[in-house]
Amino acid sequence: MSDHEFESFFPQSGSIDMQDQSSAIDQGVIDQLTAIAARYPQKRSALMPMLHLIQAVDGRVSPRGIAVCADLLDISEAQVSGVATFYTMYRRRPAGKHHIGVCTTALCAVMGGDALLERVEQKLGISAEQTTADGLFSLERIECNAACDFAPIMMVNWEFMDNMTPAKAEQLIDDLTAGRPVASTRGPQLTSWADSERVLAGFDDGQANAGPSAGPASLAGVQVAAQHGWTGVPGPISPTDIESAAAKPKAATPKAQPDSAPPKAAAAKPAPQPASVEAQQATPEPKAEVAQPTPEPTTAVPKARSAKSAKTPKEAK
Ligand code: FES
Repeated sequence: MSDHEFESFFPQSGSIDMQDQSSAIDQGVIDQLTAIAARYPQKRSALMPMLHLIQAVDGRVSPRGIAVCADLLDISEAQVSGVATFYTMYRRRPAGKHHIGVCTTALCAVMGGDALLERVEQKLGISAEQTTADGLFSLERIECNAACDFAPIMMVNWEFMDNMTPAKAEQLIDDLTAGRPVASTRGPQLTSWADSERVLAGFDDGQANAGPSAGPASLAGVQVAAQHGWTGVPGPISPTDIESAAAKPKAATPKAQPDSAPPKAAAAKPAPQPASVEAQQATPEPKAEVAQPTPEPTTAVPKARSAKSAKTPKEAK
């Protein structure tokens, strides 16, 4: 491969493995899938949680699982496969009892994500996208999990393990191997990947409120805003708000050389010397822009979104 070719870190992003026809789906599972479908006004909306239950039972999205979902939802198997092969949380090959994901996207990489992945690979004796021979662990290189403020992060059975180091990762694997209890850094006890998949299918494990939904790093911006009295745009933004914001003139920016200034005055009053980089960085923002920023509707974020982004995958579901 040359330096200019694309190398996929997701070799599983192909089709469903039709060679492996094994399945543990029985009538009890079909009844649970039917119950999930009944929760939605349009039953096809239930496909994603149903696929999580298929994974909890079969360890991956199985051919039998696809056929059952298609039958229960009155859609084609191709439609089910289309969803199952689009999202990276749906597996084409069986996961281990504990599924580990290591984030190597930019911010985690800067904070040591690649070194973390390398140490986990060495510890488990497998590469990313593989499963250990005893079926205890599977490993995946994951993309940003919206937990950059705790980088580098790992996921174990979709639970966050924040601010990881190679040494902490080794200890975590030793504890899970020995069957010792391990808690996510955000509270919930780690059980198994299959159990977590059942939660994503909508079956409560009683841990939804275990631990905080947002840690200090996630709340730092909110605290700074509170100290300065900064607030966001109240309520939803309407088309009228956008039009008025666009029509409102922005705060005037002082001009170094007024257009009306006569050439003589400009010559008599030379332009100020450019400040050094350090001095420019130290120069405070103009007070008017900080205290009364010009409304920018496209960048305004409703308050509720900051809290949502800090939730765990289970809570987000
Ligand atoms: S880059 Fe790893 S969580 Fe965002």
